[in-house]
Amino acid sequence: MRFDVLTLFPEMFPGYLGQSLLNLAIERELVDVQLHNIRDWATGKHKNVDDKPYGGGPGMVLSPEPVVQCVEAVQQLGESPGKVILLTPAGRKLDQPLVEELSEAERLLLLCGRYEGFDQRVVDLLEPDEISIGDFVLNGGEVAAMVVIDAVIRLVPGLLGDEQSNKQDSFSTEGRLLEYAQYTRPREYRGLQVPEVLLSGNHPEIARWREQSSMERTRERRSDLLNE
Ligand code: ADE
Repeated sequence: MRFDVLTLFPEMFPGYLGQSLLNLAIERELVDVQLHNIRDWATGKHKNVDDKPYGGGPGMVLSPEPVVQCVEAVQQLGESPGKVILLTPAGRKLDQPLVEELSEAERLLLLCGRYEGFDQRVVDLLEPDEISIGDFVLNGGEVAAMVVIDAVIRLVPGLLGDEQSNKQDSFSTEGRLLEYAQYTRPREYRGLQVPEVLLSGNHPEIARWREQSSMERTRERRSDLLNE
């Protein structure tokens, strides 16, 4: 799977891309991430990529020319043009079903905004999928793009050692419940014991306990999921 990230701040990505799972995916050639600086498509002496909003108001708006040109040029670099995603708080909210949908794509172009957003003609011309990672405003789409890459690559076949592990995580399609409580050694820590059933070796009992733990956590923390 190929990701192309279009950003004014490509230098934000290498540290993140070097982290273990993603690095492994890149080394195994399961995933390819290419970074593109939108400013490389700016014309003019000062390489400006933004301008004041028509109608007045605070902040700067990303100009249509460098952004559209950058997207079109990057689309030419692969075998297929790919699916264009624009990260914006005004987009459809990211959840696990959307992550699963995105993971079906061969190629994703992730367009990261800054300032007060993009000129509307970027959206009108490119018709991207507009995606938000939540109801809060970030300083730009870069962290949101990392979130999308991170969530999607976990679903790339052959990446996670334990094939079951991503299916059992909270929010997987297998069960729309939060994950059950997990324990590892030691059996007692600061007076807190690992539940006896998990030490019993009785797998049907363990499965029942975990199901109950998932239900309780979901009811307490995210009862909205039970109503869906
Ligand atoms: N850019 C700024 N805020 C964002 C958000 N919540 N999701 C995606 N992109 C963003």
